[in-house]
Amino acid sequence: EFKENTSIVVFGASGDLSKKKTFPALFGLFREGFLDPSCKIIGYARSKLSDEDLKEKIKPHLKKPNGDKDDEKVEQFLQLVSYISGPYDQDEGYHALLKVLEEYESANSIERPHRLFYLALPPSAFVSVCTQIKKLVYAEHGETRVVVEKPFGHDLQSFRDMQKDLAPLFREDELFRIDHYLGKEMVKNLVLMRFANTFLNAAWNKENIENIQISFKEPFGTEGRGGYFDEIGIIRDVMQNHLLQVLTLLTMERPVSYDAESIRDEKVRVLKAFAPIDHNDILVGQYGKSEDGSKPGYLDDDTVDPNSKCVTFAALGFKIQNERWDGVPIVMRAGKALNEGKVEIRVQFKGVPSGIFSDISRNELVMRIQPDEAIYLKCNSKTPGLSTASRVTELDLTYARRYKNFWIPEAYESLIKDVMTGDHSNFVRDDELDVSWKLFTPLLKYLEGPDAPTPEGYAYGSRGPKNLTQYLESHKYAFENGGVYQWPVATPD
Ligand code: BG6
Repeated sequence: EFKENTSIVVFGASGDLSKKKTFPALFGLFREGFLDPSCKIIGYARSKLSDEDLKEKIKPHLKKPNGDKDDEKVEQFLQLVSYISGPYDQDEGYHALLKVLEEYESANSIERPHRLFYLALPPSAFVSVCTQIKKLVYAEHGETRVVVEKPFGHDLQSFRDMQKDLAPLFREDELFRIDHYLGKEMVKNLVLMRFANTFLNAAWNKENIENIQISFKEPFGTEGRGGYFDEIGIIRDVMQNHLLQVLTLLTMERPVSYDAESIRDEKVRVLKAFAPIDHNDILVGQYGKSEDGSKPGYLDDDTVDPNSKCVTFAALGFKIQNERWDGVPIVMRAGKALNEGKVEIRVQFKGVPSGIFSDISRNELVMRIQPDEAIYLKCNSKTPGLSTASRVTELDLTYARRYKNFWIPEAYESLIKDVMTGDHSNFVRDDELDVSWKLFTPLLKYLEGPDAPTPEGYAYGSRGPKNLTQYLESHKYAFENGGVYQWPVATPD
């Protein structure tokens, strides 16, 4: 384990990702005592900046979890930070970097250096930066860890090409591929919830589950990044990676142990049991202007091709062909510019046998990933009092109420801590990506090819395409009481 005396190099230090995510996460770990003051943080980018310039750039993003400032901690943290300006693909900057690393390591008598390289960079720079790291700043007598961020390719072939270039440079255990959904509290809870609860584990199969839904909703569109998004679409942006990770953790078999390889072995195994995605079993949409005309449609963005069929909403039907899941409809849906921001898992159980009750609702387990982590199970219970009528109620674990004094780390905080301690459980392994690209590439080719369907329009700020309700119902999802039931969102006392 390395917690102290680690040098952390952030490539792309002047960019958006590092400003908004990487540095704030390093600060969060520092603030909570998980990043030792003996560590050194070096920003690296092409921009000609001084140490102070970089610090000024990142400072506004360093806050307490409640958004308040924390001047004292921020100052202490910034003392660990310095900056080097250099090109990504030539030796000179790396010589300067090596000098700084070696000075730090010798001043602190570090015999086995631990160098962590965080690539907050577009994928076009991955290979050249990794090549230079290996050539000039690799810790020969210590530990080198390299963190990369999605996208890991654009399809199966481009992923494999990238992998071919990276694989000879670093061992798989030196590479940490971030999918930040794996760092979210509720996603990390899935293994626990499923395998540490006998009642859930017993019911987790086709005999008891009617359907599964994973849904991702964002209330904003692609304003400002339309040009980027047009090449990507919602499926690559969040489904092939974030939501598929959630789905595999939800459906995999019990790992033999809690270690990273056992978990990832099971994820790969279940992914291999997924049937090809049926092109006729999808619903795709693209947002237009809001009803009141105040919000722009996707195509109103100047950086977007006016004839673009880019998908900003998709619902995809999955089938898993194994003993546990055969025949259970699984719907993954994701959309931009919808009526709310929410990510959740819904597992709807089979109806109870007819007989003593009539019109009884199904049990439904909801795991809310964000905002406001919560798990609730809709169940039937007698109406209190003299009546014997049943009513839907819920067993409710709302984190803000139950775990008031806990610090729930941000996804990036949790993941960077895992990198520092060398835990790969919440990172994506190469073979996982291969299977997931195999699954998604034919669908993407179809949606981007000459026979691509025209996405159904939906208004910015709406629930999504009109056909969504019917689509979900055709996958056996029942809107309880005709959609009347509402979880009474619990506010902390
Ligand atoms: C990113 C996508 O990977 O995930 C974004 O590129 C998306 O489009 C984001 O908004 C969602 O992450 P989070 O943590 O805000 O749910």
